[in-house]
Amino acid sequence: MKKEVKIFAHRGMSGHYPENTMAAFQAALEAGAAGIELDVQMAKDGKLVVIHDETVDRTTNGSGYIKDMTYAEIVQLDAGGWFAAANAGETIPELDTVFQWAVRDGNELLINVELKNDLIEYPGLEEKVIELVQRYGMEERVILSSFNEESMRRVRKLHPTLQTGYLITGVPEDTLVVAKRIGVNSIHCEEAFALSELGREAKEAGFPLRVYTVNDETRSDFLTKAGVEVIMTDFPGRFLKNWLG
Ligand code: G3P
Ligand code: CA
Repeated sequence: MKKEVKIFAHRGMSGHYPENTMAAFQAALEAGAAGIELDVQMAKDGKLVVIHDETVDRTTNGSGYIKDMTYAEIVQLDAGGWFAAANAGETIPELDTVFQWAVRDGNELLINVELKNDLIEYPGLEEKVIELVQRYGMEERVILSSFNEESMRRVRKLHPTLQTGYLITGVPEDTLVVAKRIGVNSIHCEEAFALSELGREAKEAGFPLRVYTVNDETRSDFLTKAGVEVIMTDFPGRFLKNWLG
């Protein structure tokens, strides 16, 4: 029942573990999620760093912009203690480390890599991420998404067959026009868009809707009826426990 809707763990299983850490990703795998969503920024030395914010301030014991720090500096920080004492010692992973983990036996998770380049431009970010996807043979398992229209256009140009998602907030009138203009494969949206007339039109035009961030499992009926492809949630277990078995 309802298995046609895939559950993605948003920033990993971030309701129970510190977001965007290996602990959160491993928990998503063990919970039976179909995929994970994660965020990528670029460090001063060009390393691809899995973290939501542009700075380390909110989710570590350090401070400063990712773009001004090397990964060697970033990995020293505690990325778990802010969440719970039991998670102290978690570190900020490189995207490379997540892909290494993802290609292990038994791991078939889809991975939605959100390029966090809507507030800061990271020259070469798209090229680096695509190179890594190719190095690990993850082409069929990765979806690249961004709020940055130009970035998605670059991805389409660099690798036309990779899955792409145009990220929106709210219910922008021009979503379908922009999605077609970029040539993305899907629209990553909030529930309001998915349930709107515009959402219905986008779906009928062939754009799967992947919805973030839904933590109330009672919404799943509405979203299933609306035909969404993916629900991204911080609490995958809330959805999966009702659906599996
Ligand atoms: O990718 C969907 C969602 O994660 C976008 O918003 O702020 O949680 O990265 P945010
Ligand atoms: Ca995100």
